[in-house]
Amino acid sequence: MKIIKKISTMQSISDELRKNNKIIGFVPTMGALHKAHIAIIRKARKENDIVVVSIFVNPLQFGPKEDYKKYPRPINQDLDICKKENVDFVFYPSVKEMYPYGKSFTYVEVKKFRGILCDKFRPGHFCGVSTVVAKLFNIVKPHKAYFGEKDYQQLKIILRMVKDLNFDIKIIPVPTVREDDGLAYSSRNLYLSLKEREVAGNIYKSLIYCKNLILNRKFKSIKKCIEEAKNYLHKMLSNVEHSIQYFEVYDDNLDVVNNNIDKIPKNTKLRIFAAVYIGTTRLIDNLGFKI
Ligand code: PAF
Repeated sequence: MKIIKKISTMQSISDELRKNNKIIGFVPTMGALHKAHIAIIRKARKENDIVVVSIFVNPLQFGPKEDYKKYPRPINQDLDICKKENVDFVFYPSVKEMYPYGKSFTYVEVKKFRGILCDKFRPGHFCGVSTVVAKLFNIVKPHKAYFGEKDYQQLKIILRMVKDLNFDIKIIPVPTVREDDGLAYSSRNLYLSLKEREVAGNIYKSLIYCKNLILNRKFKSIKKCIEEAKNYLHKMLSNVEHSIQYFEVYDDNLDVVNNNIDKIPKNTKLRIFAAVYIGTTRLIDNLGFKI
């Protein structure tokens, strides 16, 4: 496994690999790798000749009051994982290498899937994500790139960007990987205290609860199902400090669905989304199903 820190080196390596007809699979990450990353790397390993993982905590996608400084950076552990998973190249640039002027003068702004869910509460976040992912695509030059469905809005934005800017890259979504109690793997789970961790699996349980209310037509309206699921979640989290930032239902394309469940066409794919603070840790999750 080779660790590459320079953009020009990574680009030359990818050019050479492509010349030799090697299929490059790319897994962009911010490090602090966990089981969900490993599942993504393994999928990429199976489906490509060469696997490149990037590890870069991208300052552009953090708000001024967010956790950029304290974001975990266990680089030695991450490199060990990559080695064990037979990754061929780890692209591990410095902030200076990626943003030599301290900031970017050019941004990639995807104007769809905005004003809702995480975008409503993290202004500028997705612009930071699409900008760095576009840069990484131009650096790693992959044939395929892998993104987890836990960050569903991010996935939709990247799919849109690839289409609109004609990147010749196939985006492969990877289903969310969960701990035994249902908590979606996230680098931010490391912030949870023992007591918080004990109840965090209830976020996923509340999504399932909401899904069942909808599927069993327990109430006529989506809003009422959401309200009940939020009550359930508040109850399950009652012994820790918490707040629900959003709990919403959209269709699979992030379009608004009819509030009257009976008016939603059969076989529509719905997705329930939640962002929840447990203590000071913000966790997101989502659950897709057909009505
Ligand atoms: O999902 C992430 O880890 C990040 O948003 C990404 C895609 C690596 C861009 O920094």
